[in-house]
Amino acid sequence: MACVRRLNLILIASIFILCALEKISGQISYSIQEEMEETSFVGNIAEDLGLNIQQLSTRKFRLSADDGGRYMKVSLKNGVLSTREKIDRERLCGQTDRCTMPFEIILENPLEVLHGELVILDANDNSPTFRDSSIPLEISEAVSTGARFRLESAEDPDIGRNTVVDYAISSSEYFSLKSRRTEGGIVIAELLLEKSLDRELQSSFQLVLTAMDGGTPQRSGTAQILITVLDFNDNSPVFEHDVYRSSIRENTPRGTLVMKVKANDLDEGLNAELTYSFSGLTSQRVHGVFSLIPETGEIVTEGPLDFEETNSYSLDIQAVDHGSPANTGHANVQIKIIDVNDNTPEIKVTSMTNQIPENAPAGTYITLINVIDRDSGKNGQVRCEIQKNLPFTLQASSNHYKLVTRERLDRESVSGYAIHFSAWDLGSPSLSTNTIIHIVVTDVNDNAPRFSELSYNVYVAENNAPGTSIFTVSASDPDLGQNSSVSYSILDDHFQNLPVSTYLSVNSMNGTIYALRSFDYEEFKTFQIHVQARDAGVPSLSSSATVHVIILDQNDNAPVIVSHSAESGSAAAEIIPLSAGQGYFVTRIMATDVDSGQNARFFYQIVKATDPNLFTIGQTSGEIRTTRKIMEGDLSTQTLVIMVKDNGQPNLSSTVTLHITILQNSTETLPESSNSVNTSEYLSDLNLHLLIIFSCTSIVFLLIIIVLIGIKCKQDRNNPQEYMSPSYCYKHGDMLDTCNRRSAMEETLRYPGTEQLVRMPGVPQYSVRLSPESAQSDFLFLKPCGPPTSQNQS
Ligand SMILES: *[C@@H]1O[C@H](CO)[C@@H](O)[C@H](O)[C@H]1NC(C)=O
Ligand SMILES: *[C@@H]1O[C@H](CO)[C@@H](O)[C@H](O)[C@H]1NC(C)=O
Repeated sequence: MACVRRLNLILIASIFILCALEKISGQISYSIQEEMEETSFVGNIAEDLGLNIQQLSTRKFRLSADDGGRYMKVSLKNGVLSTREKIDRERLCGQTDRCTMPFEIILENPLEVLHGELVILDANDNSPTFRDSSIPLEISEAVSTGARFRLESAEDPDIGRNTVVDYAISSSEYFSLKSRRTEGGIVIAELLLEKSLDRELQSSFQLVLTAMDGGTPQRSGTAQILITVLDFNDNSPVFEHDVYRSSIRENTPRGTLVMKVKANDLDEGLNAELTYSFSGLTSQRVHGVFSLIPETGEIVTEGPLDFEETNSYSLDIQAVDHGSPANTGHANVQIKIIDVNDNTPEIKVTSMTNQIPENAPAGTYITLINVIDRDSGKNGQVRCEIQKNLPFTLQASSNHYKLVTRERLDRESVSGYAIHFSAWDLGSPSLSTNTIIHIVVTDVNDNAPRFSELSYNVYVAENNAPGTSIFTVSASDPDLGQNSSVSYSILDDHFQNLPVSTYLSVNSMNGTIYALRSFDYEEFKTFQIHVQARDAGVPSLSSSATVHVIILDQNDNAPVIVSHSAESGSAAAEIIPLSAGQGYFVTRIMATDVDSGQNARFFYQIVKATDPNLFTIGQTSGEIRTTRKIMEGDLSTQTLVIMVKDNGQPNLSSTVTLHITILQNSTETLPESSNSVNTSEYLSDLNLHLLIIFSCTSIVFLLIIIVLIGIKCKQDRNNPQEYMSPSYCYKHGDMLDTCNRRSAMEETLRYPGTEQLVRMPGVPQYSVRLSPESAQSDFLFLKPCGPPTSQNQS
């Protein structure tokens, strides 16, 4: 209180001095604090100017109508100057240091104008203010520490100490505030970066800036500093994985998305905008196969995949941001290709020998087959096969197959093979392929010519013309070319001490056999030769066949009457008794014929007779009998001409003349039996001869047969095939014809080795006939089969 009073005293004293001074100079000055309440006392003008208070109203004491009059008023009662309203120094004077408001006091009667001034003193009535409540500030994160940023100043219309004298900011580890006074005396604030910024850590700050004046009491104003940390491209893109792995099938079509890679960049804006691409490390071959879409990071198949070519790919990829300078991130992509069964097995036939001789032993190598399947695993495992029923087999070793023969081949049955070789893999579905291997079996001379028959029977009519072809043998050879070209020849042999080549010849080219001479059935009836067929192979092969030449009888011999031939030249004679009755046996005509068969079958006939009705002859038996009883009137000598005719074509005949004498005498002299006796005698005579010969030959014959059979049996055991020798025909009785016919039909009885027997010199061969018409069952030797033997028939 004391202090205030003392201040007032000082103030009053100063006013007083001022007034004194003004008075002197004719001007008065007052001062007042701004913002004083209205009608605040400013000064007592009347007193200060020494004016008579009573005269104030009469002299019309007043203020002129300017600023002074507007803000102030004077009292007529006591001449006190007071404020009319609150005065704001800042409005009146702004920032001017000394704020004065001049006024004039007017008095009339006499007119007196007094000048004065009011000094308005500043009061701290304004707080510092910022134009905007928030101050935006952008600072790059790249700015280094110590950097300063000028902040907007706050305004305070007060002057002197009442205006802004200092600033402060809310505490932050990154920022501090430095304020300083400029030359113009203004205090400005600067933000100081204490610690480097990282947008990625904290991208903005909010600080409170406070401006303070120096008045009492102190006033302050605040504003928000909004700091935005500007991005600097200080981060590289980072892929989500260092290594990406994926797998796709090799048949994946073009344009298929394999996978998507992604990188992140902590920066923002362009600095975080990424473009993907293959890095320089990625091999060139990848480029045609995969593409990386720059914007999205999608990896897409671009070209054909082939597991067999490349089964995995390594892609080095990068992501580049759009900052400047740009940053790059890297990653690796491993793409495995999965095999698909897309390769058919391939068959490669190497070292092909398509010709194989038929005598190649089993296991002979033919060709090597290589089977390749480019797939892997089961898709690349191959199985191979050829047809089952072939004489070939496959020998496998890994993917090579050896085609070898399984058995001997035979060109003559199969001359070539088409081997279907098929290969398939074990994939599913399985793929397969085939190839055909043609193999030609080449000929080897392994077949001897083969006659159509093992033995041939060739029938040749006797009396043939020399040089006629009698037969053609033929042999075939299934081999090829030279190996099958057959030539014929007759093997050396002898027949009847002559080489067989004098009897027959063969055309070596076509096997036609020629008779070199005329054969005589009566000389020999059969002989055999061995014909050989030989091929032209090297070495050649041959085989032989037997040709039995069977001479067929021709009727070339006329019958020879043997019973009555002794009397040839003169007629034969027979005597019969007068008493001979009907059917009396007169005689028998016997004939022989060196021919055989029908050519030796006789028919008897009386061609001329004295009394044609008296005698008859058995047409086949040759027996002459009476047809009736002899009568007295009959001629005593009867002559018969009898013809013997064989059955050949054409037939031949002989005749004999027989004189039959009828004994007129009594029967006593010539008993009936005499004829018989004669006949018997003759017969027995003949029979005796023949029987002895026959018995002897039979015994010898039988002995030889027995011996030979014994030898033959022994031989047969050694050589059973020899059982096909020329025949020996044992003809019995009237089986003769049959026998001949059978002979023609090769049904002759055959005794092995009997040829030697037949050929034995001095032992004739006989055909024996037992005549059915012979009532006496006698044996009649019709003809010798062998060389004719002398017959003593007297
Ligand atoms: C005949 O056989 C021989 C081997 O015996 C062979 O070398 C030759 O080539 C064959 N000839 C033909 C025409 O096949
Ligand atoms: C065999 O050849 C001869 C002579 O060339 C010929 O006369 C004959 O008719 C031939 N035989 C056959 C069966 O062709």
